[in-house]
Amino acid sequence: IHRRLTLTAASLLVGLALAGCGKQESAAPAAASAPPPAAAPRVLVVGTDAAYTPFESQNEKGEVVGFDIDVVKAVAQKAGIEVKFVNTPWEGIFNTLELGDRDLLVSAITITPERRQTMDFSQPYFEARQLIAVKSDSAVTKFDDIKKLKVGVQNGTTGDEVVGKLLGKSSTDIKRFESTPLALKELEAGGVQAVVADNGVVAHYLANNPGGGFKTVSDAGFSTEQYGIAVKKGNAELLAKIDKGLADIKADGTYAKIYASHFGAESK
Ligand code: ARG
Repeated sequence: IHRRLTLTAASLLVGLALAGCGKQESAAPAAASAPPPAAAPRVLVVGTDAAYTPFESQNEKGEVVGFDIDVVKAVAQKAGIEVKFVNTPWEGIFNTLELGDRDLLVSAITITPERRQTMDFSQPYFEARQLIAVKSDSAVTKFDDIKKLKVGVQNGTTGDEVVGKLLGKSSTDIKRFESTPLALKELEAGGVQAVVADNGVVAHYLANNPGGGFKTVSDAGFSTEQYGIAVKKGNAELLAKIDKGLADIKADGTYAKIYASHFGAESK
């Protein structure tokens, strides 16, 4: 309600200012009555931390590609909006919405109650949960087993959050990395004994690094997470377009096709 009021007040002021201008320009009445030319639609800037294969990564040509990218491209097409993707470090990615540097974020972002306080999310478009990566010879069989170990996470992710709950937020055994691949490299190097991150990314990394000597450990205690596309808090107009586009690509089979192209046929 507050926002509404502020907006109304703002448009009133603009209206008054324009009325003032009109009076000063009364020498050219014809121009004043002509409708303004329609502004060309702005290309919306989509921020993504493109170090999260298969959701978002940069290919050899430097283009941002992945499941998330294909989803947003398809949504944008349905919604009649133009988008471009800009690689944006995870650290500070949420601030870019507030600053207006990015209009949308797609980055395998889990919808959480805390995040909902500072940004708005689309309907969920993907389900995930945490997964533990350890060395093949590790004795870890469940989440609780990593309590006494050095654990790598990507700073500020939901993996960071769950590990913080188990080990204590300020535990010096939590090693926080700028990106998930960096955390996994540290596991390979032996600097940490476990990494906790989103299942899709951990599974993909292991499948593509057969020489890494890793295995994964799942734990039924990890809750289900839902990925959402984020917009600046209060941008209801854009959010409605995104949600409509998402519903459209789910209804017409586009989403299933995109899913299958990245994760195989077992789409749900
Ligand atoms: N789903 C997790 C979260 O929202 C991790 C997302 C990290 N995404 C990325 N592109 N680095 O906290």
